[in-house]
Formats: sequence, C-alpha cells, structure tokens
Amino acid sequence: MKVLGIETSCDETAVCFMEAEGGFGPHFNFEILGNALLSQAKLHEQYGGVFPNLAKREHAKNLVPMLENALAQAGVLKPRTVLGALPRTVLGRTLEREPDLLTLLIPFLQTHERPDIDAIAVTHGPGLEPALWVGVNFAKALSAVWDVPIVAVNHMEGHIILSTMEHSNILKNVGMSGRLNEFEFPVLALLISGGHTELVLSKQFQTYELIGQTRDDAVGEAFDKVARLLGLGYPGGPEISRLALAARSSKLEAGFKLPRPMLNEDNFDLSFSGLKTAVRKIVGNHQGDASLDFKMQLAREFEDAVTDVLVAKTMRAVEEFGTSTVVVGGGVSANSHIRLRLAEALAEAGNFAQLLVPPPELATDNAIMIALAGYFHALKKEFADPATLAANGNLKLA
Ligand code: KG4
Ligand code: ZN
Repeated sequence: MKVLGIETSCDETAVCFMEAEGGFGPHFNFEILGNALLSQAKLHEQYGGVFPNLAKREHAKNLVPMLENALAQAGVLKPRTVLGALPRTVLGRTLEREPDLLTLLIPFLQTHERPDIDAIAVTHGPGLEPALWVGVNFAKALSAVWDVPIVAVNHMEGHIILSTMEHSNILKNVGMSGRLNEFEFPVLALLISGGHTELVLSKQFQTYELIGQTRDDAVGEAFDKVARLLGLGYPGGPEISRLALAARSSKLEAGFKLPRPMLNEDNFDLSFSGLKTAVRKIVGNHQGDASLDFKMQLAREFEDAVTDVLVAKTMRAVEEFGTSTVVVGGGVSANSHIRLRLAEALAEAGNFAQLLVPPPELATDNAIMIALAGYFHALKKEFADPATLAANGNLKLA
C-alpha cells in the first residue's frame, strides 16, 4: 500500500510518501520513498514559541512545495502533457479558508498526473487548530481530485507507532526502511512533546488508556520557556540539553537546587509550571549573571529535575501495570539524558521491560510517523468521511 503522510499540527510542514505491506506483526515492513519537511522554528523564534496564525500561513505556503518534493524523491511526480480539467467548485469549496494554498495547488494539479497512492494519512489533532486545518483541508482537496481515501491520524499515536519501529538507513532519510520491533504488551508510552506530557497504557495494538498527564505545562514547553529565560534560542530543548551535557562533562554542579514537582505523590500525574517559576526566581536572584557557567549550571539542574520526575513516574507506572515494554515518543524523547536515565532505571529495577525510543532525528514532528500510524488504520479500512472530517486541537488518544 502506498500512503501519503501529511503533518501540520505545529511548526513543521511535512509530507512523505511511504510504501508498506503486512499487518501488525513480523511481516510488516515499510520504505520511505519520499520525505520532505520544513521547520518554521527560526520564524517563531522571535515569539519564543509557536505563533498559531504564522504557522497556518507558512503551512499554506509550504504544503504544495513539500508535496512536490516528496513525490519527486519517490519518482512518482509525472508532468502532464495536456492540462487536466479540475473539479474547481469542489476545490474552491474545500479550500475556501485557505486561498493561498488554493492558488498554489491549482497549477500543481493541472500540470501533474495523479500519483499512484492508496491512502492519504493526515494529522487531525491534537495540535494548533489553525495549523491542523490547513493539513486537513489540503488532504480533503487531494482526496477529492485524486479520488483517494483519507485516514485521520492522531498525532500522538503517530509518535507512539514510530517509536515501535526498527529503522535502517535513517540518515539517508529517503530510502529509509524498517519493520516493527519485537515487543510485548502491555506497553507503557511516555509521551513528551511541546504540547503533551502523558503516560499512556496500551494493552493491545491501537488501544490506549490515559493513566497520567501534566496538570499544567508540557515538558517540552518547560524546556522552551526555561531556554527563553536564559536567552537561548527556540526550540529550547536541544539548547538546554547541549549546555547540560557540557556542564556534566566538565563536572560543573549547580550551586542551587530546583524542585522535583509531584515526585513523591502516589499518582501518575506531573507538573512543570512550578519548576519553571523556580527557574525564573533563580535567574532573577542572579540578576545580570549571563555567564556561560551560570547557564550551564541551570541547564544541568533543570534537565536533572525534569528527568528525575519523568523517570520516577514512569517507573511507578511500570511497576503498577506490569509493563513489558516502555515506549518513549515526542520531541523531548530526542533528549539523550532522559533516554539514558530511563534505560538505567529499567535495568536497575530488574524487571527487564524493553525500552523503545525513536531515532533522535525522527523524535520531533515529521510525516513518516503519520503515514505509519495511518497505514494500520487504512489496512482496516478506517477511512474518514471528508464531509465531516474536522481538525481537533484537543483530540484525545483515549
Ligand atoms: O513532538 P514535537 O516535535 O512537537 C510537538 O508535538 O509538540 O516536540 C517539540 C518539543 C519542543 O518543545 C522542543 O524543545 C523539544 O521537543 N525538544 C527537546 C529536545 N529536542 C526537541 N527537549 C529536550 N531535549 C531535546 N534534545
Ligand atoms: Zn509531536
């Protein structure tokens, strides 16, 4: 089956072309034949976070070029010799709210043949609703013109499914192939991203139970806000992580301690806003101290505090639910310190739960995760009705 994946939930515009076969199990395998991604991070940097209407505008501008790229890489972009007729009324109605996208899409469709695609997988939530709508409407327009069914994908399921894969040729990106890791249920998923911090239990494939979540900020958001307090760039996660690593390797310890919110509470919930406030206080107390040393100390202590809490809550859930597999997904799962400490904690606990993490370059948002999650729904013919398909910023997994 050939699947076109589309992702626009936040500040990455991504399109991929994937070919996959087999149901959930050892026979499943996939190949990424085309993968295009444009990050808007640099544009949002001035706001210290993603600015929804700017994201929407950029997605509208970039989706057609990304589609063209992905299809060209896959070798399925075929020019038309005779201009094709288009269902303009349907297109106009579908993209009524995306005039810029419509302007770019019409000439593209007129000058290119319909590619051989069996399903279009698109993120319909959770995320920034104006941004999600662009992707959803784009999928609807392509579906109408090419007569291809749509699969509506939950972004968080995309992160989970991607983390369960074993990949080869990752650095080549296009030409990357993979299969499912061998793992057992129940699976505990720790989802850590810019918008989410959740512990999800999966007793069987594609079923999810939310067992804990943040009561305020998401962990990625905390990384981004702390980075901003330190005058570092956006996204803040990689910057903080780099400074924390430098502090550890030069044995630089912080001269202060940050709180570990909810660490000892007997539940699976988390909280990061208090931690951010504590960082703000310390930065305030060190007024004028913009030294690299201070930033390194703070980055290290912050990353340690976050990691302590994430590891403790995950281990509590592993014990409570007798988990065989721990999956970590979402942008923050790129963090090498969190990965290492989780692996150590699992090894120490001696319960042999397997740890599955995504390759760091695929931890942050991309269209591959959406194509993968969409594929398994397409296999079961779980298609969306374009007439009622809507973006949902608060879409839940369970
Ligand atoms: O999953 P993602 O790409 O977008 C959302 O769905 O939110 O996650 C983005 C988040 C950002 O907050 C970014 O700072 C964080 O992931 N992030 C990291 C690292 N790389 C990205 N956080 C900590 N350490 C990293 N190495
Ligand atoms: Zn994400």
